[in-house]
Amino acid sequence: MASTRLLCLFNAKAAATKTLARAGWSVCFRRNVSSSPSRLQHCMSAWVIDQYGTNGALTYTEEIPVPTVNSPSEVMIKVHAASLNPLDISMRGGYGATLLKLRRDPMSVMGNDHDSEFPLILGRDVSGVVVDCGSEVTHVAPGDEVWAAVPPWKQGSLAEFVTLTEYEVSHKPKLLSHTEAASIPYVANTALSALVNAGGLCRDSSSNKRVLITGGSGGVGTFSIQLLKAWGAHVTVTCSHNAEGLVRGLGADEVVDYTAGDAAEQLDMMEKFDVILDSVGGETELWAMGLLKPWSGAKYVSLVTPLLPNTDSMGMLDGLLQAGLSLQSKAIQNIISSGVFYRWGVYAPDGPALDEVSKLVDAGKILPVVEAQFPFAQVPQAFLKLDQGHARGKTVVRVAEEDDGRAEELVQNSRMETAVESEQEGQRTAEQNQI
Ligand SMILES: NC(=O)c1ccc[n+]([C@@H]2O[C@H](COP(=O)([O-])OP(=O)(O)OC[C@H]3O[C@@H](n4cnc5c(N)ncnc54)[C@H](OP(=O)(O)O)[C@@H]3O)[C@@H](O)[C@H]2O)c1
Repeated sequence: MASTRLLCLFNAKAAATKTLARAGWSVCFRRNVSSSPSRLQHCMSAWVIDQYGTNGALTYTEEIPVPTVNSPSEVMIKVHAASLNPLDISMRGGYGATLLKLRRDPMSVMGNDHDSEFPLILGRDVSGVVVDCGSEVTHVAPGDEVWAAVPPWKQGSLAEFVTLTEYEVSHKPKLLSHTEAASIPYVANTALSALVNAGGLCRDSSSNKRVLITGGSGGVGTFSIQLLKAWGAHVTVTCSHNAEGLVRGLGADEVVDYTAGDAAEQLDMMEKFDVILDSVGGETELWAMGLLKPWSGAKYVSLVTPLLPNTDSMGMLDGLLQAGLSLQSKAIQNIISSGVFYRWGVYAPDGPALDEVSKLVDAGKILPVVEAQFPFAQVPQAFLKLDQGHARGKTVVRVAEEDDGRAEELVQNSRMETAVESEQEGQRTAEQNQI
């Protein structure tokens, strides 16, 4: 009962800060490093895995330590919604374990702590409210509604709270609910990293570019179509026949149904492309290179890379070496034979990029594509949905259900608490002055 009460007060602060700020109150809950107060809850609920496996490995617990702010640049977020990505399915089964473990804990390279990543929390997207900030955080403050993509080497968002660096966090688009917002950050950071860093595109250089997106109906595809159309590019998409309406509705100029015959043949009859974003991989890579404009700086960017699988199967050094050699030999081969660039696109945490996406969303140029949503209690069902494939946009988990009826009470609690804090602060100052 006591812990429930503490949780109420904790939650109240996030909700109340905004309400009080709007009402002209000056409220500041910012604290120094490692200062998350002990009066707050110590444990939170989360879906975790304690070993790699199938859906049965997912376990609900209320005993995960709350991830408090431990460095000056960290931001602690109360999660309202999370979304799932294919990476969550893969990570549930151990994908990327070798490299991600090293990123989490460089000492793991010594090989003396085999299970150091468990209990592991999955979930790569978050939309929520800031509840605590390190002393050097300036861009966001407690009470702010934010969104972020959680890097795979950090504890995920299928939990009550997640802690990230300020750089990874961005203000959520005002027009979106948390459920809608959670569908975007990870695919947005991936698409932007792939299209900008590897594909050489940007807002001001895309208007005369022809871009092909393979796998246009999934999370990355549905976002990328909208981003590229907002930037003025001509967008061709491959997808199944029953996704044509969706991708055309998002702005795709031309659509190739890969289930109705040879997609390569159909695409070969079209004008060649400046950039290909390949989110299908495998055999696609074999024919896609020939669809690029030769000797004109055209780029093929694959999101399906052997980097993590190689390190998992061959070990760190051999895996990295093999992946590097494979990338280099394909890049050299393609540039010599037809003057096209072969590259890999990878997710990169980037809050400032999400700031730009937020503007596009609020301008109505990018819409969230939420195919399915599940309550927090049904996280395993959400994984099963993703496991089935054939995504049409994103699957979202509502981590905190809104409870408007309780909000007023929480604001009252917070007002009382703020008044008590002010009084105590005043007493302390008076005592110090006497000394
Ligand atoms: N490198 C990175 O950092 C990074 C980051 C994010 C994602 N990724 C990878 O990128 C890929 C796409 O991610 P996502 O989130 O968009 O996945 P997703 O949401 O599962 O979407 C995949 C889409 O591709 C369609 N599809 C399957 N086979 C196809 C084919 N042969 N031709 C055209 N479309 C096809 C699927 O629908 P149908 O089966 O019904 O056609 C589905 O709509 C995944 O492999 C993911 O692991 C990599």
